[in-house]
Amino acid sequence: MKKNCLEIVRQKCESCHGCALGATRNNIVFSDGDAATARIVLIGEAPGETEDLTGRPFVGRAGQLLTEFLTEAGISRDKDVYIINTVKCRPPENRVPTDEEKAACRKFLDAQIDIIKPSAIILCGATALKSFVTLDKKQTISKLRGQWMTVSVDGVEYKAMTIFHPSYLLRNHSMEEGSPRRLMQEDLRNIKDTILPDVNHTEDVISDDVVSFQELASV
Ligand code: URA
Repeated sequence: MKKNCLEIVRQKCESCHGCALGATRNNIVFSDGDAATARIVLIGEAPGETEDLTGRPFVGRAGQLLTEFLTEAGISRDKDVYIINTVKCRPPENRVPTDEEKAACRKFLDAQIDIIKPSAIILCGATALKSFVTLDKKQTISKLRGQWMTVSVDGVEYKAMTIFHPSYLLRNHSMEEGSPRRLMQEDLRNIKDTILPDVNHTEDVISDDVVSFQELASV
């Protein structure tokens, strides 16, 4: 059921040229993970080269590291997590997507969340965080990561946590207490313990308030 709705969104996305990134992509990078079983939506920044070539998010070096951290925390990348990015197409030279590009792509992201209705959203890195929260000068990812907060998508509130982006961890190898890698491990274990004990609610049903999806499907 969810997969059928997501397929409609994917098809709209395949033909999208709502921003300049559509002209340079090889593939849209729509999602990864099992929509029917995933209770967590993880949002990264943007596809890189390997993602653009394969059409799958988080499959390059950073993605492999993310998979290792998820596995270590007892979170299955295949079953528990539905992975998306703030934009579906690769920005040239792997630059950070602009606000305009993110805005043009937002309807797809909102529709995906709307359909999945996850128990939690993981904001992976500063770009994903800033797509949902307006930060003041004192609020940095180092200060906000690891804290449960609430984000709203189409009037529905979701439990959310920010974690470091795995690209940052590729440059920081220490596993000392308080190091970025250790904090990533702690955050993911917290998410696992908070969200996944309650695994019986994985029915593949669509709620009747899929606002973003209905808007997208009707045009
Ligand atoms: N790959 C992705 O799909 N997203 C990122 O944010 C980084 C690498």
